[in-house]
Amino acid sequence: VSGADGPSDEARAERRVAVCFGLSVVAGLGLTLVYVLGGQPQAEGGLLFLALGFLGLGLVLWGKELLPNDPVTAPRGSHESSSGDREGVEEAFTRDQDGIFRRTFLLKMLLLAGGSLGVAALFPIASLGPTPGRALKHTSWAKGKRLVQENGTPVRPSDVGVDNILTVFPEGTGDDPQIQSDSQVVLINLGSAKQAVRKGRATWAVGGLVAYSKICTHAGCPVGLYQAQGSARSAHHLLCPCHQSTFDVLDGCRPVFGPAARSLPQLPLALDDQGYLVAQSDFTEPVGPSYWNRT
Ligand code: FES
Repeated sequence: VSGADGPSDEARAERRVAVCFGLSVVAGLGLTLVYVLGGQPQAEGGLLFLALGFLGLGLVLWGKELLPNDPVTAPRGSHESSSGDREGVEEAFTRDQDGIFRRTFLLKMLLLAGGSLGVAALFPIASLGPTPGRALKHTSWAKGKRLVQENGTPVRPSDVGVDNILTVFPEGTGDDPQIQSDSQVVLINLGSAKQAVRKGRATWAVGGLVAYSKICTHAGCPVGLYQAQGSARSAHHLLCPCHQSTFDVLDGCRPVFGPAARSLPQLPLALDDQGYLVAQSDFTEPVGPSYWNRT
C-alpha cells in the first residue's frame, strides 16, 4: 500500500482483523462457559458458529488486506541480491518496525482465538462418560449360581427335552436390564449327539445339556433360533435373526455362516446338591460383539 493515507488504511485493516480474532476469543470462552454450566445445545451451536466465523473472517481479511496480492516476479540468473536490494530491505525493516510489531500482535490474537476454541473442544471429552474398564469382561454368572427361567424358577436337567432349548438367567437377576442383557444364556439339550468337545471343556456339560451365551458375537442380537434337525451340515445350529450368523452347537458354537467371527462363549455347567443346574464359574471369555475382545 502506498500513498499519503496508506499507513492508516493498513492500521484500520489490522484493527478489523484484531477485532475479528477478539470476538472469536470471546465466543470461544463463552462456549467453554456454557459447557461448564451444564450445556445448552442451541447456545453451544451459536457460539461455535460465531467463534469459527470470526476466526475465518479475520483470516480472510488478513489475507486480502494485509498480505501483498501483486504477482511477484524475479529475473532468472544469480540468486544473490545486489547490495542495493539488501540496503533497501534493511531500510524497509527499520522503517516498518511498528507494522511488524502489529503483525506479531495479530499472530498472538490468532493463537488466542485458536486456543480458546481448542479448550472448548476439550470439554466434550467429559461427555464420553467413564471407561467400561473390565466390566465388559464379566457377567453376573459365578460359581454355584443357579440357572433360572425368566420367572425365577430354577432349572433341572429334566426341564429341557432333547433337541429343545431354554433361555436362562443367573439366579437373582430380577428385572435388572443390564444382567438380562449380558448374562442371558441359551441352554440346549443335545441328547446323545456327538459333540466335538473343546480342550479343557470335557466337564462343562451335564449329560447332553450345554449352555452358551445368547448374545451374538457379531453385533449383540439375541441368538434365539435353534435348528435341531436337518442334514449333517445343518443340524444342531443356532441362528441369529439379525444378519443370519449360524453357530454349530456340536462344535463349540463355532460360527459356520454369516458375519460373526467368534464362537459363542460357553458357560460351564454343574449340578448342585439339590439337582438344580448351576454355573461352575463366569464365562471364561467376554460375551457379545467380538470387538470387545480386542485388546
Ligand atoms: S448380530 Fe447376529 S449376525 Fe449380526
